[in-house]
Amino acid sequence: MPLIHWNDALSVGIKTIGTQHKVLVDTLNELHDAMLAGRAKTLTAAILQELLHYTRDHFSAEEALMATANYGGLAEHKIRHRDLTRQVEGYATRFERGDATLNLHLMHFLRDWLTQHIQKEDRAYTPAMQARGLR
Ligand SMILES: [Fe+2]
Ligand SMILES: [Fe+2]
Repeated sequence: MPLIHWNDALSVGIKTIGTQHKVLVDTLNELHDAMLAGRAKTLTAAILQELLHYTRDHFSAEEALMATANYGGLAEHKIRHRDLTRQVEGYATRFERGDATLNLHLMHFLRDWLTQHIQKEDRAYTPAMQARGLR
């Protein structure tokens, strides 16, 4: 059973961003499946790194679009992105050192962060982007 089911409430109305959000959801579901199946640490560590890299790429792409749209909430939004990136980086480092394990607490934290961030903070930029002709 996937950790996150994609649904319309997660749509921000901008196609390129929606595609990236779906990849994030898929990668997080993949990490969750690997954890439940008790897959080897080398595999889960690789998925966690993939999630981290993709998250960084997505955040910078999203920030560039917000800048293009002259979105007023950009500075605050960047802080939220940076905070999450740091948290996941710290976790990935501890995981690789053997000081942390993948667990449901982490999965639920990432799920709640991602879904709430998309539904509140990401959706807030939609009008500014659409006003600039982004779809
Ligand atoms: Fe965002
Ligand atoms: Fe986003």
